[in-house]
Amino acid sequence: MTRFDDHFQQALSDLSQKGLRRITQIMQPQQGPMVIRMIDNRLLCDFSSNDYLGLSHHPLLKERAQIWTEQVGVGARASRLVSGSLIFHQQVEEKVARFKRKEAALLFPSGWQANASVLPALFRLSQEQTGHKALVFTDRLNHASLHHGCAAAGAGQIRFRHNDLVHLTALLEKYQSEKGLRFIITESVFSMDGDQANIIGLRKIADQFNAFLYLDEAHATGILGVEGRGLSADQLGADLVMGTFSKALGCFGAYIAGSRAVCDWLINSCSGFIYSTALPPSMLGAMDAALDIVPTMDIERHRLLEKATWLRQQLQQVGLDTGLSSTPIIPIIIGENSKTLQAAKFLEENDILTIAIRPPTVPSHSSRLRIALTAIHDDRMLEQLCSSLVKLASFLTRQV
Ligand SMILES: Cc1ncc(COP(=O)(O)O)c(C=O)c1O
Repeated sequence: MTRFDDHFQQALSDLSQKGLRRITQIMQPQQGPMVIRMIDNRLLCDFSSNDYLGLSHHPLLKERAQIWTEQVGVGARASRLVSGSLIFHQQVEEKVARFKRKEAALLFPSGWQANASVLPALFRLSQEQTGHKALVFTDRLNHASLHHGCAAAGAGQIRFRHNDLVHLTALLEKYQSEKGLRFIITESVFSMDGDQANIIGLRKIADQFNAFLYLDEAHATGILGVEGRGLSADQLGADLVMGTFSKALGCFGAYIAGSRAVCDWLINSCSGFIYSTALPPSMLGAMDAALDIVPTMDIERHRLLEKATWLRQQLQQVGLDTGLSSTPIIPIIIGENSKTLQAAKFLEENDILTIAIRPPTVPSHSSRLRIALTAIHDDRMLEQLCSSLVKLASFLTRQV
């Protein structure tokens, strides 16, 4: 107990009253996508994870994690610029660069850390090189880590309407006479909506206005694009692409990939790279194996996208709002926080785990269930999900 606890308790009860309080729930992963929720020992089929290809249990990832640990130990012992850079970091970075069709790549401990620290370094470049602040154009639905990167840099964001390239163009025109480097910051697949950005359109606009395109491919990598490279790799899409190993690649950690010059600059200027302990050998082993396997999983990717199309059609037929999803991330947009919590509970009673996503993760009045399909959900699980969601649709209608 501290004398400040009353403040914390009051803030927590304010959140509870608004239906916005969050808690951690301990889960014990089982076979495939099944989990046991420890608090009530309940076996649930998990439709909330980002393990899109089911690689988190893959034997090759586990084996390489063990082998690399045996070879050099559990921890990297230091940050990358001290003595923490191992041959394994170099090997994985080279593999990421080849996978993403870029000259070079850099690893980061997490995707959040990459976005939160790379953006401030990039924006500083504008001040240093031109003497003017960076002009930062961001999609309104960008992930929290991208917002954090802008906020940490003290950059005022010029926000364009979600995926609206006409609006982006109009804003770039409006600021055309301003000096300073221009940055367009967006995602290729939006994490809470499952819709996709128009990469070719973004590239054209970036070229037209001489803007630097930074693309977060966290949810596209492994799932979309040739061999799962994401949406930008084969279209000379982004100037700097960021991605994670924590979603379809089944493990942990993140990377940015771009030109050798930008990577070398970030080695010298990005605090999240410089002042953090290097990723450990076990994780590097798993990452390396994931990079070997992901390009070979075309059949799984194809089936996954087919399953998602089928499910969306079924849900739309019963009047559920799946937004503009076109990927295995399928939101069921409900609106009110309390109703969304009830919907998640309703599904739990049908042995299905989804999470009620509420503000500030999504805009006010757009709370939703976020369904994420994976390659390890079999047809029976999918049908169970679908029939439970059909029941949910009539449950929600009764609530109105
Ligand atoms: C779009 C996007 N970017 C970045 C991240 C952060 O990645 P990580 O989980 O590796 O920190 C996430 C994770 O939720 C995400 O959805």
